[in-house]
Amino acid sequence: MTTSLDHQPGFRNHFASEALPGALPEGQNSPQRCPYGLYAEQLSGSAFTAPRSHNLRSWLYRIRPSVAQSAYEPLDAGRVATAPPARPAADPNQMRWDPLPLPEAPTDFLDGLLTVAVNGDAATQTGCGVHLFACNRDMTGRFFYDADGELLIVPQLGALRLRTEFGELEIGGGEIAVIPRGVKFQVRLAQGAEQARGYVCENYGSPFELPGLGPIGANGLANPRDFLAPVAAYEEVEGDIELVAKFSGRFWRTRLDHSPLNVVAWHGNYAPYKYDLANFNTVNTVSFDHPDPSIFTVLTSPSDTAGTANLDFVIFPPRWMVAEDTFRPPYFHRNLMSEFMGLIHGEYDAKAEGFLPGGASLHNAMSPHGPDAETFDKATHAELEPRYQGDTLAFMFESRYVFQPTETALAADFRQRDYVDVWQGLASHFDPDKR
Ligand SMILES: [Fe+2]
Repeated sequence: MTTSLDHQPGFRNHFASEALPGALPEGQNSPQRCPYGLYAEQLSGSAFTAPRSHNLRSWLYRIRPSVAQSAYEPLDAGRVATAPPARPAADPNQMRWDPLPLPEAPTDFLDGLLTVAVNGDAATQTGCGVHLFACNRDMTGRFFYDADGELLIVPQLGALRLRTEFGELEIGGGEIAVIPRGVKFQVRLAQGAEQARGYVCENYGSPFELPGLGPIGANGLANPRDFLAPVAAYEEVEGDIELVAKFSGRFWRTRLDHSPLNVVAWHGNYAPYKYDLANFNTVNTVSFDHPDPSIFTVLTSPSDTAGTANLDFVIFPPRWMVAEDTFRPPYFHRNLMSEFMGLIHGEYDAKAEGFLPGGASLHNAMSPHGPDAETFDKATHAELEPRYQGDTLAFMFESRYVFQPTETALAADFRQRDYVDVWQGLASHFDPDKR
């Protein structure tokens, strides 16, 4: 089942959904006896006392309460790492990776995760983990939740069916989904997909929200109405079911004798959501110069310092380039913020080659980066006609906290160890006699 447009909530608006008529109690959250003999359970995504504008919680009406599970036992986390790393390895070198190779052995979403970099500290709710995933089979008989952060899933290849406590979401290339902290879910390949690959940002900090629009006005960038939540769907399945939890940087396992997707109805403003990046209303220059990339912010996780994000999710979508007398690709720069980039499809306008769909790059705080020599040469001689850059969809996870690449990512065969060479051809064109 996919999201129903008829049930479309606004971003973080209050929403109510029931899979059986009358399953939601009327006028109160926790009556003495819930309809259909359900248990009431509150899931809080913020402190109880968070201001109303940032208070996140949902009430779930389920067949069994979440606490009906066995004790937690430690489980090997495989290639998944969490901040802070045991041996911090922050590195100012610009880094780039080829796409994560697709697995040959049967691998589900959870086994297919590989952490590239982490920053901040999950225990203090700052920073994030950046993971890649590649999988070729469904999660079966097991489910997952992440107590360390919310998960922003960005598929690059194939499509995923996210079966969550709140209902199902399906996402393919060009769409994203956010699974809030603590929400139980299972990842299957969407119908017709034999494999899938993409990126996951595990946000330890404050939950994503839409950026303020300032003088842009009431509309533009990502509009609230385009964020879709699932409708309630439940299954009554018994068996030996594994629930994997990521808690305090480690994986844990608990067992249930029933499916955790047993929520018959729910209401609240804390729920998974999806968004089609094609709905992003891109704002850009119509005169001159390349605006700062913050103009392309889809979602932001603010930190305690105004305007200095724990984490921004920024995209570089298809758009018209019309700037006059302008070096149109991204400019050369050095940045307080640290930048992890990925490419969903097409080409990114700062690089002539080497940055592939499914690949990734990392430019940490104050490390210089920008267009390669070939792109610089082309852009400084190009005819500046209006041009539609159609086949492109890159994105950035940008954070105030320096990224620590993992040992796995540093040692990976698919890391491009010669990345810095792309800038070596930038020769001097300086001539003091010729203005
Ligand atoms: Fe940058």
